[in-house]
Amino acid sequence: MAQRPSRVDRRGFVRTAVALGAGAAALGSLPRQAVGAAGGDYRGRPVIITSHTNETGHEALSQAWPILESGGRAMDAVERGANVIEVDPEDHSGLPNLDGVVQLDASCMDGRTYNAGSVGAIEGIKTPSSVARLVMERTDHVMIVGRAATEFAKSFGFAEEDLMTPESREIWLRWRENHDPADFWGPPEHLRGNGSDAPSDALRDRTIQYEHGTTNVLAVDANGDIAGITTTSGYSWKLPGRVGDSPIIGAGLYVDNSVGAAGATGRGEDVIKSCASYFIVMRMREGRTPQQACEDAVEMIVDRYRAIGNDYVPGEKFVAIDKSGEYGCASMGSGDGAPRLTVRHADALEVYAGAALYPSRS
Ligand code: GLY
Repeated sequence: MAQRPSRVDRRGFVRTAVALGAGAAALGSLPRQAVGAAGGDYRGRPVIITSHTNETGHEALSQAWPILESGGRAMDAVERGANVIEVDPEDHSGLPNLDGVVQLDASCMDGRTYNAGSVGAIEGIKTPSSVARLVMERTDHVMIVGRAATEFAKSFGFAEEDLMTPESREIWLRWRENHDPADFWGPPEHLRGNGSDAPSDALRDRTIQYEHGTTNVLAVDANGDIAGITTTSGYSWKLPGRVGDSPIIGAGLYVDNSVGAAGATGRGEDVIKSCASYFIVMRMREGRTPQQACEDAVEMIVDRYRAIGNDYVPGEKFVAIDKSGEYGCASMGSGDGAPRLTVRHADALEVYAGAALYPSRS
C-alpha cells in the first residue's frame, strides 16, 4: 500500500492520507488511486463518506455508490449505506443497555428539503435510520422516542425483532456477572474460578468494557444536494432510556445544503452539550475546511472543560463534508491511531486518516 508522507503540524499531530490497503482486496475491481492522489485532497461530487472504516463500512459505501453514480439522491444513498451497517449484527446493533435491552438512536437530515427526523431509544427495529427517515418524510415532527417509536415503525410494516445475538447476550451476561463484585450475579462464591465461568471462544477476545457502535454516513449528490445519517446502539450498559447525541439534530448530525454536513461518534453527552455537528457546519460556513472545522470542534470541547479548570478530554470523533466534496475528520485521543473515514468518489474507495488531537488521552 502506498502512503503519502506524514507531516506534523503546529499542534504536533500527524495527518496522513492513505490509499485503501489489504482490506480493499475484498472489494473487487475498484480503481485504486496512486499514492496520496486522492484522500483528503479529493474534491468533486458525487461523494459519500462514513465514519466506519472496517469491511462493513466499505460494503456500505459500495452499495450506496451506484445510487449516486446514476444521479440518485444523497438521501437515498446515505440510507442505503446506513442500512448495510445497521443490519450487520457483528457491527452495529450489538450491545444492550444495563437491563440487556438493545435501544437504538438514529437521525437523518436532508439538505435539499431542510428537513430532519429522528428516533430515540427505539427497541426491536433493525434499521432505525429508515424509521428516522419516515419521521422526517411522513410526519410533521422531528423526533419520536421509546415504545412509541417502535409502534410507529410497525405501523409502516417494520418487523419487531430481538436484536440481541447469541454473542451479544453472552457478553452482556458476563458483564452483569463481573461489573459489581458485591452483587449476586455469577456462580456461587465457593464455585468461582473453577472453570465453570470461563468465557466461550467467541467471547474470549471481546472486551467487557463499554463500547459504542455509532456510524455517520454523509453524502453530496451530483445535483449538489447534501444528506446525512447518524445511527447507533449507543453505549453498551447505558442506563435504560438514555438517549445520546445521535438522534439530536445539531449534536450527532447536521446538514446545511449551502455549506455541508457533519456527524459525531464517541461520548454523546459532550456532543450534545457542545452542539458539535452544528458548530462544525457553521465553522465551514465561515470558510474553514471540513478538516479544520472538525479540529475546531475538538478544541472547542476541550476548551469548555479548561474554562472550568478541568483537564478532562472526552473521546469524540467528528467527520465532515462540504458542498464541494471535500472531507475531513478529527478526534480526541489516538487509541488506535489517527481517526479515519471511508470515502467513495468517482475515482476510488479509500480510507482517509484525519487528525488525532490530544493523543495522550488513552
Ligand atoms: N455517540 C453515540 C452515543 O453517545 O450514544
